[in-house]
Amino acid sequence: MSESDLPVPSIPNARDAVRALRPSQIREVANAGFGVDDVLPFWFGESDRVTPAFIRDAASAALTAGATFYTHNLGIAPLREALASYVSELHGATSPDHVAVTSAGVNALMLAAQLVVGAGDRVVAVTPLWPNLVEIPKILGAHVETVALGYGERGWQLDVEQLLTALTPATKMLMINSPNNPTGWVMSRDDQRTVLEHCRRHGIWIVADEVYERLYYADGAVMADGARARTAPSFLDLAARDERVICVNSFSKAWLMTGWRLGWIVAPTALMDDLAKLVEYNTSCAPSFVQQAGIVAVQQGERFTQELVRDLRASRDHLVRALSAVPGVDVKAPSGAMYLFFTMPGAARSLELCKAMVREVGLGLAPGSAFGPQGEGFVRWCYACDTARLDAGVERLKRFLAQHGTV
Ligand SMILES: Cc1ncc(COP(=O)(O)O)c(C=O)c1O
Repeated sequence: MSESDLPVPSIPNARDAVRALRPSQIREVANAGFGVDDVLPFWFGESDRVTPAFIRDAASAALTAGATFYTHNLGIAPLREALASYVSELHGATSPDHVAVTSAGVNALMLAAQLVVGAGDRVVAVTPLWPNLVEIPKILGAHVETVALGYGERGWQLDVEQLLTALTPATKMLMINSPNNPTGWVMSRDDQRTVLEHCRRHGIWIVADEVYERLYYADGAVMADGARARTAPSFLDLAARDERVICVNSFSKAWLMTGWRLGWIVAPTALMDDLAKLVEYNTSCAPSFVQQAGIVAVQQGERFTQELVRDLRASRDHLVRALSAVPGVDVKAPSGAMYLFFTMPGAARSLELCKAMVREVGLGLAPGSAFGPQGEGFVRWCYACDTARLDAGVERLKRFLAQHGTV
């Protein structure tokens, strides 16, 4: 039999659940910008500043010292201890046995989902939302229901009764992200308490994505001693460490370490052996020298993080002022994360609008529809950069609106 007599194989395809995943609309906008010389990119969720030198130096020193080997699946003991102290200081007593090191926040979300959901399970997510939280459970064959935040005079708000109604006893997991990407919404302590009590009653897991907890501006919440809260309200402030709460965090945002891929999980000790197995089969461990640098970040980075938050607040206020002066733009200052999620003329078809803005004036914003259908009508602007760059972006936005006769 010659080769040409063999039956033609069918086209190789990935599993249906994987083929059904949504491709990134932010990437689609970025692709529309290829060939445009001078793009100001505000579409990704990262600062334009490099990781602070004291952290980079720690990684270099660790590499020089030979930290090039596999580590324990759950992370090196000194990093787990340093994270336990850090979390204890912010949210109450937490032992290293409750902490696992991950390859950044997105891997932590995947591991958390793999721990508790399987095919056919019902998951609830509050949207608009960074797409990964909605898509990850789908990879595992779970079914995701969404509950939308509402937008009004006071910015983005949660209708907590609506969320409780969606959290039926048949629900396996709630995925909730506060401070929220893209809206900047911060869940109140009272709402966290209500949701936690409800989930306790029905045995529902809470996976709390708190990677932006330190990017919290606490505008109305100056504490008795005049200081501002150092962190947004967290489920860890309310939950016992051994109940059905898995808290996901990352080095990416508070220490500007997006490219390092380092994060952590706080979870019940009863999960840790199984979590170690999942880490083994996903990544085996986070890179050794990156973990060493992580120790330095958590132990010596407090001043850096506080200065970063001060700068971000100034950038947020600057951009809100500048955009508020543009006719047709409706923008409010959210109290967390590093994004403005606002309406402007043309945003009803946000993907087309963002593609046109990048093509015509080199302004790179993320379309609201990238964050689910509830995000349509808005665009997202990451303001983690200096004010001169923000001003240049606002000028481009005005030029675009003038060219289209909308101002
Ligand atoms: C809401 C949210 N969760 C998690 C992450 C994960 O970040 P990383 O994987 O860099 O830790 C991001 C990144 O933008 C995010 O916006």
